[in-house]
Amino acid sequence: MNPMHHATGGAPDPTAIIRLSTAYWDSQTLLTANRVRLFDALADGARTPAEVAQALQLAPRGTALLLKACAGLGLLTEADGRFANAPSAATFLVSRSPAFMGNVIRYSDQLYGTWGQLEQSLREGRPALPAEAYLGDDPARTRAFVLAMHERALGIARALVGLLDLQGRRALLDVGGGPGTYSVLLTERFAGLEAEVLELPGVAAVARELVAAAGAADRVALRDGDYHHSDFGHGKDVVLMSGMFHRESEASCRDLIARAAACLQPGGLLIVSDVFTDAGGTQPAFAALFGLNMMLTAPDGGVHADADVMRWMADAGLRDMRSAALPPPMPHRVVMGVKP
Ligand SMILES: C[S@@+](CC[C@H](N)C(=O)[O-])C[C@H]1O[C@@H](n2cnc3c(N)ncnc32)[C@H](O)[C@@H]1O
Repeated sequence: MNPMHHATGGAPDPTAIIRLSTAYWDSQTLLTANRVRLFDALADGARTPAEVAQALQLAPRGTALLLKACAGLGLLTEADGRFANAPSAATFLVSRSPAFMGNVIRYSDQLYGTWGQLEQSLREGRPALPAEAYLGDDPARTRAFVLAMHERALGIARALVGLLDLQGRRALLDVGGGPGTYSVLLTERFAGLEAEVLELPGVAAVARELVAAAGAADRVALRDGDYHHSDFGHGKDVVLMSGMFHRESEASCRDLIARAAACLQPGGLLIVSDVFTDAGGTQPAFAALFGLNMMLTAPDGGVHADADVMRWMADAGLRDMRSAALPPPMPHRVVMGVKP
């Protein structure tokens, strides 16, 4: 249902518009709380605003207001003037928790200023943030980006692995494989599978560390390259293209699909995972907004419809296409096609 038509009797209602106009308050409250490590400060139990302010070296009056706002948003609970992490914050926002999502949130935090340049990007027709900054040129930013991708992939991977049957497959090419997380987890799940991750050198350097730390260096190899130009090899059983199509134009996606199809052996599987819209491009709303996010951060960035990707796969000679949605809250869909 269109949220702008909530009112009874179908008359236009301004509530949703007003809510949207201040929605960034919510975001900045979470982003700042995560950045100053507010949730870590409450990890061992409830505290008063004065105790939190002292622990984090923040101004007491503002800290009290921040704590109340976080409680209002459901991130914290309050009792007798003491604040504690709500269960979701304790699970996902405390750095020692195995399900910590703070690095993913830090990545959104870094893009807050970039979103403020949306008008400029629309007028100039180019991203507000040069992609090179987080893809190798700026080492600190690149590392933060790779760690955020890694954390996010760990969250998504279990669902993705559950959707895939790669039993009996031997050679996986992970194009733009980022931190290599999918390759590590897929080769762990499917015995006999070995992966090659093709990545830009600055990203691959961080990924090498993560793959080694996971003890997977014997089955996951990093190859420095540029997926627009690098040879994809031949005889592959599986090609994975995850989170890349949103940086690429239709022409580039078609080229990547054709080269993937060419490097697969008969019966080989192409898997394209990404945020996709329904046909027409306007829903889900998150996916349509994600298109803007990518426009702001990559020269050809945007969002595609999974139905279009399946059509491009068919044009490249692939068969048995299907698209499957990952379970919520993940917004991703996985499109698969088989080389005849
Ligand atoms: C959103 S990330 C996805 C990473 C990983 N596949 C995943 O799903 O977690 C997109 C990746 O594409 C890589 N990339 C972008 N342009 C590339 C290029 N021209 N050649 C190789 N990799 C590239 C980036 O470095 C980044 O790791």
